[in-house]
Amino acid sequence: MLRQLRNQTAIFLSNELRKLLPPEFSDNEAVSVAKLENVLEQPKNLEHGHLAFPVFSLAKLMRQGPPPIALKIATHLQSLIDGNQVAKDLGLEKAMAVGGYVNLTFSGLALQNRLFAAIRDSKGKLGFSADGKGKKIVIDYSSPNVAKPMHVGTLRATVIGQAIRNIAETQGYEVIGLNHLGDWGVQFGKLAWAYQKWGDQYDFKNAPFQSLFDLYVKFHDEAAKDPALDAEGSLVFKRLEQGDKEIEKIWKMFVDITLVEDQKLWDLLGVKHDLVRGESFYNDRLKPVENLLEKKGLLTESEGAMVVPMGDDMPPCLIRKSDGASLYATRDIASAIYRKEELGADLCLYVVGVDQTLHFKQVFKVLELAGFEWAKECHHISFGLYRFKDGVKMSTRKGNVIFLEDILKQAIERTSELIEKKNPHLSLAERTQIATDVGVGAVIFGDLVFDRVKNVEFDWDRILSFEGDSGPYVQYMHVRCQSLLRKYAEKNGGLPPKLNPARVMGEKDERELIRLLFSYDEILEASFRGFRPNILAQYLLEVCGVFSRFYHNNRILGEAAEIEESRMALVAATQAVLHEGLAKLSIRAPDVM
Ligand code: ARG
Repeated sequence: MLRQLRNQTAIFLSNELRKLLPPEFSDNEAVSVAKLENVLEQPKNLEHGHLAFPVFSLAKLMRQGPPPIALKIATHLQSLIDGNQVAKDLGLEKAMAVGGYVNLTFSGLALQNRLFAAIRDSKGKLGFSADGKGKKIVIDYSSPNVAKPMHVGTLRATVIGQAIRNIAETQGYEVIGLNHLGDWGVQFGKLAWAYQKWGDQYDFKNAPFQSLFDLYVKFHDEAAKDPALDAEGSLVFKRLEQGDKEIEKIWKMFVDITLVEDQKLWDLLGVKHDLVRGESFYNDRLKPVENLLEKKGLLTESEGAMVVPMGDDMPPCLIRKSDGASLYATRDIASAIYRKEELGADLCLYVVGVDQTLHFKQVFKVLELAGFEWAKECHHISFGLYRFKDGVKMSTRKGNVIFLEDILKQAIERTSELIEKKNPHLSLAERTQIATDVGVGAVIFGDLVFDRVKNVEFDWDRILSFEGDSGPYVQYMHVRCQSLLRKYAEKNGGLPPKLNPARVMGEKDERELIRLLFSYDEILEASFRGFRPNILAQYLLEVCGVFSRFYHNNRILGEAAEIEESRMALVAATQAVLHEGLAKLSIRAPDVM
């Protein structure tokens, strides 16, 4: 696809420039393949060709104006078009200077052949690259807290993380998805205390998670009236830390109950972690961290607590509290070392909300101060918060909690009604499956379509719309492709379009669609580089827009055989890209809806 064409063009261009330019430039970085590959642009307007070479830095080097140089290069390349084998193989059709650019146009046939060959040979790996081969990414995402229902905030940490994970895999990386479960802290002492006191008032057998949550709320209500309860809870937590078997058993039960509940949501959202490494996992790795920091001379005492000073621009990083309790940061330091040294991470990604920015800055800084070179390979992939339409911030505290489960349930319910109206003939099981795929897909897409650093406004109408910038809209376009493909197969003894049409697709809509589909691999690459799934989501919307124009302006089925076949090949290509692209966002693409 585009990456390959870009690479081959850069090689060709590099060779030709070395011949064309005065010898003193032939070793210059400006004419190296790597550099050229980097600077070749994809013009916005198709009339400017498929790739454009900006000559500005070259011109500066040669102390000449860009336009004459562009003209010289374009003229040279154009002269090669009929005779030169490399140019022929590339399918180069036209080289033209426009200002300081050399615009390159490739033959329609060459491009469509490349596109269809890529799709034919993709085997579920359309647009993949080997850039990350041999390298390992450890990505921390979702990472909810024990005994708390996942809420809309966790939604972002979950879907953004899973999408980045999927996209990283397309770039050839080995990826380990880590669940840094919030399973340790004094709150579990409180909860265990509450369980021992009031546990039998709740239906732990039939509604374990609800009971756990109710118990949590009950404890906090009671503790508000009687602060002594907090002290009781702290004592129980001490026992837990000292390895009290009875308390540990209760704690373990809390963890298991939570994981069972969270798993239901992960299944719905297509989330797959490889490892659960909760905060408790690091319990016996904390002392070594302290010792190390001590040895490096980084620890100082401050009001009885141990801290690492961070200089003027950040508050000190708390390593151990005055009562001896360890902290969130200490666990993250231990965890980073574990990810690097034991899991072999080349890159550590943390998909966590913007509210933890300072925390990660401190953790990474401590690692750096401790002499870990690789600290610079740790990245906080931050995201903004959800807001209601009226601008209210969502919070987990009392009252205005929005549980993820409720959001998904509601999305599925609302979609069910739409699906039922549209497809009364489908069986209940089919409708339920489609409503689930579309409802959940809508929520995921509605999140991922925005730049992650921005706050997101939660708006049902937008999220569930079958038109415009929503998940169902993309799924619906995919359904259209599938329906055309079914009809085509019916006509052709069950055979799909062959994907090697002889006709050159010269209509504007056809050419635009080809060009867009052709760039899918670079979209994946760009999405990965910025850790920005919204690049992929926005691209899918663009594909839908162009496909929809193509579909409205051109007859597809029922045209002369040659035209029909080529247009159906394009439909099949669109279907493949939409299907694959949605899958990378962990969204399913139903065949009917
Ligand atoms: N459990 C934390 C929370 O809900 C998120 C954990 C993120 N990962 C980490 N390594 N700190 O806020």
